[in-house]
Amino acid sequence: MLVTAEDMLKKAVAGKYAVGQFNINNLEWTKAVLLTAQELNSPVILGVSEGAGKYMAGFETVAAMVKAMDESLGITVPVALHLDHGTYEGCYKCIKAGFTSIMFDGSHYPIEENVAKTKELVSVTRAMGMSLEAEVGSIGGEEDGVIGMGECADPNECKSVADLGVTMLAAGIGNIHGKYPANWQGLSFETLAAIKELTGEKPLVLHGGTGIPADMIKKAISLGVAKINVNTECQLSFADATRKYIEAGKDLEGKGFDPRKLLAPGFEAIKATVKEKMELFGSVGKA
Ligand code: 13P
Repeated sequence: MLVTAEDMLKKAVAGKYAVGQFNINNLEWTKAVLLTAQELNSPVILGVSEGAGKYMAGFETVAAMVKAMDESLGITVPVALHLDHGTYEGCYKCIKAGFTSIMFDGSHYPIEENVAKTKELVSVTRAMGMSLEAEVGSIGGEEDGVIGMGECADPNECKSVADLGVTMLAAGIGNIHGKYPANWQGLSFETLAAIKELTGEKPLVLHGGTGIPADMIKKAISLGVAKINVNTECQLSFADATRKYIEAGKDLEGKGFDPRKLLAPGFEAIKATVKEKMELFGSVGKA
């Protein structure tokens, strides 16, 4: 059931668990995430980056595919279709395409400009009945060619953006997209606690969910994180399962080259990763 992310995240804050955002890249990804959410009776957020949107032939195609698949598979758990790290222009494209939720990533603008653009998008998304994620303090690592340094957000800036009426707030707390380097310092719980103190019940978003140890995830949830984004980990498990299939020569046996067979191990691997994350985040049975 396609919905905004608002109610599911309010419930997550109250119930002290987090809803997973899993980024999608194609039909297999979308189907794997939707079916796992349904099997585990968990709410879920499908994340679409601008790069992935382009890859899938545009946001209209993505929205049409997700809506049709949600209906055809009989998905009854709450599903939000969300733009990940949207530019200002990308946000308007997704509003038009029928997404139920968007993220405006204005973290690279001076705070005044981030506030002004976010404020405008708050009123537009409110009028459209959509949810909106804002970002303060850039997330480290590489996302669609943009490299962030993993800074910690200023809690006062977080408060000024949270107070604009956004649905959820992504704040940098030393998290990084992609694999964490061996010398990573870990999440800054001091920063997270200070942000929580100033932003109250506002659902907080943790990007870079790949590779964060389970104890840190649990602590982050206890400090107000209600949405956790996972992308790279599904890509790694898909690639690993696909490589094993090909290295075992299975594509050369019978009709093993049929894409429905060739992509099946990767599909199952995404499902297993999503299941593991939903169990860790505590969203199982919370639909
Ligand atoms: P990872 O690729 O590190 O899991 O991060 C995903 C993310 O934060 C998407 O916005």
